Amino acid sequence: MCGIVGYFGFRRADQVIISALKRLEYRGYDSWGVAVKHGNGLEIIKMVGAIGDVENYSLAEGSIGIGHTRWATHGKPSEINAHPHKDCNNKIAVVHNGIISNFQSLREELERKGHKFSSETDTEVIPHLIEEEYRGDLIEAVMKAVEKLKGSFAIVVMHAEKEELVAVRYKSPLIIGVGDGEWFIASDVPAVLDYTNRVIYLEDGDILRIGNDGFKIWNNGKEVERRVETVPWSIEDAEKGGYEHFMLKEIHEIPRVVEDTLFEYLSEGIDLDVSFSAGISEIVFVACGTSYHASLIGKYLIEKLTGIPVRVEFASEFIYNPPPMGRTLVIAITQSGETADTLEAMRMAKKLGAKVVAIVNVLGSTATRIADNILYTRAGPEISVAATKSFIAQLVVLYLLALKLSKMPGSEIEKLVDELRIMPELVRKILEREEEIEQIAEEIAKYEDIMYIGRGIGVAIAMEGALKMKEISYIHAEAYPAGELKHGPFALLGRETPVIALLVSDETYEIMLNNIKEVKARESPVIALADEEDREVEKYVDFVIRLPKTNPLYTAITYSVALQLLAYYTAKKRGCEIDKPRNLAKSVTVE
Ligand code: F6R
Repeated sequence: MCGIVGYFGFRRADQVIISALKRLEYRGYDSWGVAVKHGNGLEIIKMVGAIGDVENYSLAEGSIGIGHTRWATHGKPSEINAHPHKDCNNKIAVVHNGIISNFQSLREELERKGHKFSSETDTEVIPHLIEEEYRGDLIEAVMKAVEKLKGSFAIVVMHAEKEELVAVRYKSPLIIGVGDGEWFIASDVPAVLDYTNRVIYLEDGDILRIGNDGFKIWNNGKEVERRVETVPWSIEDAEKGGYEHFMLKEIHEIPRVVEDTLFEYLSEGIDLDVSFSAGISEIVFVACGTSYHASLIGKYLIEKLTGIPVRVEFASEFIYNPPPMGRTLVIAITQSGETADTLEAMRMAKKLGAKVVAIVNVLGSTATRIADNILYTRAGPEISVAATKSFIAQLVVLYLLALKLSKMPGSEIEKLVDELRIMPELVRKILEREEEIEQIAEEIAKYEDIMYIGRGIGVAIAMEGALKMKEISYIHAEAYPAGELKHGPFALLGRETPVIALLVSDETYEIMLNNIKEVKARESPVIALADEEDREVEKYVDFVIRLPKTNPLYTAITYSVALQLLAYYTAKKRGCEIDKPRNLAKSVTVE
């Protein structure tokens, strides 16, 4: 996700800002930029690609400036779209993290007043709004401008004629690094650790001004005090936000990712353009690995909610035997947008005349150039090789797509949308109880084989749970529809093979309980995932992972988060190198 830096002090701002931006590189970015105050003007550079050596750049001398690394969301990666963005008179510069959800209407209003825009970004409305409100007092203008913004944002603002920086935090993190006679603003602690380990974590709604007389913070119009804390971590620890591994950090980002992805497509109703579905008779998903499992869940949802027939193909197999493409819609799911097999399948589908939609996390990736239509997930950069938050973001897009394509009565759709809106809260509840999952992981870490079983929506969730377990803990893990066990896999069961059973409170519940009893009769230890109100299952199993009650359709989110944590803590107990499992790469660019 994007990174923000601001500097006010006595050093050369360009060097401080560029070196601080480099400390945020681990978050991923596709372009970057810096603005420095020089006299009564602003000098700005913007670049696409990596920063490289700090010494390569020299802006005008000046000791106030702002900088940004951009991970493209609105508009492709380009110099024009890179931050900082400016007003019409080149006096106000802004860097921004987050999403301005009402930017389109603000932009139209500002254009009517004569403002000229140069980028495709949502951010550019901010300097223009501030310009509209500016009467010589920057903080006042910023306060008035942010009242008009909807969404989530952290911004830093500078004015060419002002010896000050103004920043706002609203649902997107921002900290102050407190030095001796110098101050830093950043979206993330690692950016400032080369200079100071004394930081202030701003709170939602905080508005900050740094000037020659020090800094002040306001919230709700009143001046507030915030505590200075000493960061005990090294830079490397700080990149992981204090978590031991990126995987754990990324699992903890899931509530936020669900919020951001919902935000993108939900306003009054589901704001998702599905004109690509006009006249189609079937949908074919193509994907690999975790994205393939998301596709299986997509099939379940679309068939259940819309009645449109759906097939799911491994992208690597699709090219050998592509199905006939009459009125077929092909949906490719790929986090990276660079998986060679998925790209090949997309190209072939297009050649055969299908319309191709891509569900992608990385803006500007190859998949986005091949696809006719793109649905972005808003997971931000995922660093750990094992996909976690990106998988959940894919599911959120699939839920919205299935609901949008559904012909169910509006009131039923609204009810499901309302239940989807509370998913971030439910995931937070799971994360609050992760110690219980850690204890169960300690039990299963001693085994070399694990079987995952489920029925209905539980089958694909089980497959993804098993993939997560095998790839990071190196335990052999397999997933089966519970009804298939007696057709062969039963032979593998016994004391040495625990079974993880996904019990969903829908029409599959009773028969799953029977299957669990059959498994217990073969002496396998059983760990069940069930909803927290279930009082039946504990009679038959060794451990229960209790999950917040939700509509059974949404267990793909809650159960998957629990299974990701289970895999994580099992791998940790076994001492595995979690973020970079052996033999695996984050982006598989060969067929
Ligand atoms: C597993 C994992 C992989 C990817 C697969 C496809 O945790 O991350 O199985 O899901 O390599 O990658 P994308 O989604 O980038 O096409």
